[in-house]
Amino acid sequence: MKVEQQESLSTATFTATHLVEVSAIESAAAFMPWPEKLIQQCIRSDYINHVLLHEDVVVGYSLCSTGAGEAHLQNIVVSPEKQGLGWGHWLLHQTVTELKQADLQRLFLEVRASNLPAISLYQRYGFENIGLRKDYYEAPVGREDAYVYVLELSDS
Ligand SMILES: CC(C)(COP(=O)(O)OP(=O)(O)OC[C@H]1O[C@@H](n2cnc3c(N)ncnc32)[C@H](O)[C@@H]1OP(=O)(O)O)[C@@H](O)C(=O)NCCC(=O)NCCS
Repeated sequence: MKVEQQESLSTATFTATHLVEVSAIESAAAFMPWPEKLIQQCIRSDYINHVLLHEDVVVGYSLCSTGAGEAHLQNIVVSPEKQGLGWGHWLLHQTVTELKQADLQRLFLEVRASNLPAISLYQRYGFENIGLRKDYYEAPVGREDAYVYVLELSDS
């Protein structure tokens, strides 16, 4: 995969000061964007959240809930104009590294069955598809299935 300008990327803990920029990225990038209020509710001590910075500008973010030794990737997003550069992979790797440092055992996630870029990211990273949740997501018309993926953190 092409990874451009990796040296210009960094991550920081996502705090309330990033909320406006993160919300704008979510609105631009997501198929069905999370409302700002919902993103704000994820800024809490039992979450491990990052913003992705390119030359100090917020260009993405990740949200992970944690509990009982496990983590759940609630969302990972890169600005539309910065997608396909390997930055989502880089952000995922920083997130996974921190989850390992926190001694979490595995990382779960759900992804829309139609979300091929995200599925490609997770599969290439080493996540295992462990199931399907029927009609899990709201869709513009009706509902959409979710695939469930897991990454073992203790030996990955
Ligand atoms: C999913 C997302 C974070 C990936 O970020 P990204 O920076 O574009 O990803 P990368 O450049 O690191 O590429 C990751 C993989 O996706 C693939 N990919 C990227 N854009 C793609 C596209 N438009 N179509 C198909 N595959 C694509 C890349 O080829 C790469 O696959 P590989 O690892 O097999 O080479 C980004 O597409 C995004 O923000 N999507 C909208 C929000 C979203 O759906 N988040 C996931 C919620 S579960």
